[in-house]
Amino acid sequence: MGAQIKGRPVVVTGGGSGIGAALALEAANRGAGHITVSDVDVEDAQAVAESIAAQGGAAAARQCDVTDAAAVEELAQAVAAEHGVPGLVCANAGVMSAMAPLLHTASSDAEWVVRVNVLGTINTLQSFGRLMADGQQQGWLMATGSEHSVGVPHANSGAYTGSKHAVLGMCDVLRAELPGHVGISVVCPGLTVSKLWNATRQRPRQYGGNADSDPGAGVFMEQMGMSAETVAQRAFDAIAEGHFLIPTHYHARAYAQQRADDMAEAYDRLAEIDTADYDLNRTVATFLAAAAEDQEDR
Ligand SMILES: NC(=O)c1ccc[n+]([C@@H]2O[C@H](COP(=O)([O-])OP(=O)(O)OC[C@H]3O[C@@H](n4cnc5c(N)ncnc54)[C@H](O)[C@@H]3O)[C@@H](O)[C@H]2O)c1
Repeated sequence: MGAQIKGRPVVVTGGGSGIGAALALEAANRGAGHITVSDVDVEDAQAVAESIAAQGGAAAARQCDVTDAAAVEELAQAVAAEHGVPGLVCANAGVMSAMAPLLHTASSDAEWVVRVNVLGTINTLQSFGRLMADGQQQGWLMATGSEHSVGVPHANSGAYTGSKHAVLGMCDVLRAELPGHVGISVVCPGLTVSKLWNATRQRPRQYGGNADSDPGAGVFMEQMGMSAETVAQRAFDAIAEGHFLIPTHYHARAYAQQRADDMAEAYDRLAEIDTADYDLNRTVATFLAAAAEDQEDR
């Protein structure tokens, strides 16, 4: 069964711009209840909330920096108290540093990308995931990964590419850990029109401060990118059907296939000297159960 959002509260992080704004608006189009548009930039979030309200929806903006675990927890508790446990939470906030080869990416930039894209996603999935897991109603988590999560190597964006692999990895684990009434998906867009090309405009001081990126990257994104609205529609169609992996740009399939082929070929090299009969989670569970029994017997 897929996500059911009709009449249910929805939260979108990084909802003030680009894909997040489109996700918030699409949630409203599809009959969600109250929508919390959360962003570190509250003015942008406010504008999106006002657009939703102008179309007859219910929405409010809330300032929240996803790298601050306490602030994310506070957001989750406030939403639950005011509107109830959300039916959908989009862990979408993300940043990209200025393009540079990985060997020459400043460690402060890499740290910023990892803190927002990885730690921020963990904070969001944890706080809202716990709310949903402890509740009775169905809930759905959707993280924004990227086509770089599934095998498209973004030259000059190594830290970003790595951070998006991490998002997929975390969601994969949560898929195995979450209780049956909580679903999870990871949307993996390709190039999409947004302000991501100039995320450094709001880079905090400790990571190098505000700076404008190359406007050429913005022109490229504007001309070559898919609209954020299309990405949001594809994401909502997919979660309604309960899909875990949500690619939005078909061209990335070739890269994902190449990754899968490379993996299979690498493992096939071991086939003659090792066995395939191994299930990590089952083996660990059996081992721990036996150890616990041992402990009791002592
Ligand atoms: N645009 C693309 O081509 C593309 C492709 C694949 C994935 N993505 C991912 O989509 C997501 C949304 O990005 P976008 O393209 O819409 O860019 P965007 O810059 O237009 O929007 C990102 C939003 O996140 C907010 N944000 C930044 N740091 C934050 C923080 N610490 N806490 C809370 N909010 C914060 C920004 O204020 C902004 O409103 C990101 O995770 C990005 O990595 C984008």
